[in-house]
Amino acid sequence: MCGIVGYVGSREAQPLLLDSLKRLEYRGYDSSGLAVVGASLQLFKSEGEIAVLEGKMPRMQGSIGIAHTRWATQGKPTTVNAHPLTDCAGKIAIVHNGIISNFMELRESMTRDGHTFTSDTDSEVFAHLVESEYKGDLVQAVMKAVSRIEGTYAFAVVAEGRDEIVATRRESPLVVGLGDGENFIASDVTALLKYTNRMVYLEDAEVVKVTKASVTVFDASGNVVPKTAQKIMWNLDDAEKGGYPHFMLKEIFEQPTAIHDSLLGRIESLDTEPFFQGTPYSSVKIVACGTSYHAGLVGKYIIEELSKIPTTLQISSEYRYSPVSRENPLIVLITQSGETSDTLAAAREARKRGNKTIAIANVMGSAITREVDHVIYTRAGPEIGVAATKTFVTQLIALYILAMDLGTQNRTLSALAKRSVIGQLRNLPRAVQDVLNKSSEIEELAKKYASARDMFFIGRNINYPIAMEGALKTKEISYIHGEGFPAGELKHGPLALLSKDSPVVAIAAKDHTYEKMLANISEVSARGSPVIAIGYEGDTDLQKFADDVIYIREIPPLFSPVPIIVALQLWSYYLAKERGCAIDKPRNIAKTVTVE
Ligand code: G6P
Repeated sequence: MCGIVGYVGSREAQPLLLDSLKRLEYRGYDSSGLAVVGASLQLFKSEGEIAVLEGKMPRMQGSIGIAHTRWATQGKPTTVNAHPLTDCAGKIAIVHNGIISNFMELRESMTRDGHTFTSDTDSEVFAHLVESEYKGDLVQAVMKAVSRIEGTYAFAVVAEGRDEIVATRRESPLVVGLGDGENFIASDVTALLKYTNRMVYLEDAEVVKVTKASVTVFDASGNVVPKTAQKIMWNLDDAEKGGYPHFMLKEIFEQPTAIHDSLLGRIESLDTEPFFQGTPYSSVKIVACGTSYHAGLVGKYIIEELSKIPTTLQISSEYRYSPVSRENPLIVLITQSGETSDTLAAAREARKRGNKTIAIANVMGSAITREVDHVIYTRAGPEIGVAATKTFVTQLIALYILAMDLGTQNRTLSALAKRSVIGQLRNLPRAVQDVLNKSSEIEELAKKYASARDMFFIGRNINYPIAMEGALKTKEISYIHGEGFPAGELKHGPLALLSKDSPVVAIAAKDHTYEKMLANISEVSARGSPVIAIGYEGDTDLQKFADDVIYIREIPPLFSPVPIIVALQLWSYYLAKERGCAIDKPRNIAKTVTVE
């Protein structure tokens, strides 16, 4: 996720672009840059937040320009990798939000054709593609260039000597803002509301030519598409949250895209570019804190199922002080921020102990990435809500990919089984969307239980950690005391806590533990606690045992944690909303814990 803006009109472009760009900083903040077309094409960029760019940028004259704030997904967050990126001659500048999954092949073939690349980004290939297709018509060149690209994108392009911006999108957002004698483009309306509230939305594969006097939209075949402007009534705060009342809800709804982005181009390349080559590992240890630890708990099941490699877990702050074992496990450190001090210290300790280390991180260039041998990035984009949602789900995606890789290296995952896993992974965005479509139903149910003081979450097998994560989400944001248990442990203590005032959320996916789960649910019911079950559509038995049921579409057990946690994220969100809590900034907790 990155932010793009563009301006063409009669005012000086530079201050306006900078001002608009700041409104998109929530979309990424590791580097930024501007290209302004005046007498020549001028370009300035810098690593760090937009304030850093602003502090050192020279004056750029011209009234046409594009700007970008980056959340790195390919290539480190350095000045060289910041956008805009240019062609060989420095006459064409582009900004990109998305992921080009076939950039390696394109880069190789264009290098053979004589193009010189200056960055490590996937995006730069687009500047060179436009350069090689440009024969005096920028729209045509952009159309031809995008036809060679696989992946997701919003692009904006300017060229020296041309009084236009050409932009296009596929699966990444892009809007055109209409002014009087001036026009704009941006990743979202937030950047433009100060200047206009009349917006034109682009569909996938449409290309737009924006001049100060006109906006012309073309379809992929070059036909003009008539468009009607929409009036946006949001205030700036609403707009930054995309119209959602909280970042957390926005981020929950971004999960189908986050999963899709995290898979893009990766599962196809596992055979040719495995993470690990050589001797297969005989054991894996996962080290993490908080929600990332819960992802690790699910990861244990995934890794053991797909690679048969025994996997253990340890909380980061405990790992450092644990005795050195005789085993030499692969250490997997999971951290959204890449800055959690206990996890960083664990990474250093692991290397000191001579272990191979791999990090699953969301922030490119974060501290953990300098402490480990290998990084798998989750491509969730920046997460602003303190409660982790889309980063948890993309951590799970990274763990499926890692497990497939280990299984392949270990020869425990057949080609057939691997194909089936890949098919299931590709279905996940749809499975999650199905759950999101039920949000109003979940909201109604949450209202019914929002006055609870305690709430228990039970699950079995791979969904036991999901019960723990559901409880963590609930306690973090709604301040209801929430605890997650393996359902089989109920009799060993938790039953003593049950009463009519302590609802129990029971995960009852149809797997080999289902019958036992039904028995647990009736046990809970017999103690007078209301039961809210999460089960599969068509499972009529559940209604007999539970007070309420959240139904989701059936999915094989190994993948069930993904849609089920989304249901529980919505559940905790609506509980907190009903209780009037500060959802994005819960009391006493921080997004990133940089002290031990
Ligand atoms: C804090 C956050 C949690 C997060 C945990 C670990 O407690 O509030 O949401 O799961 O830190 O953070 P990390 O960045 O290492 O995943």
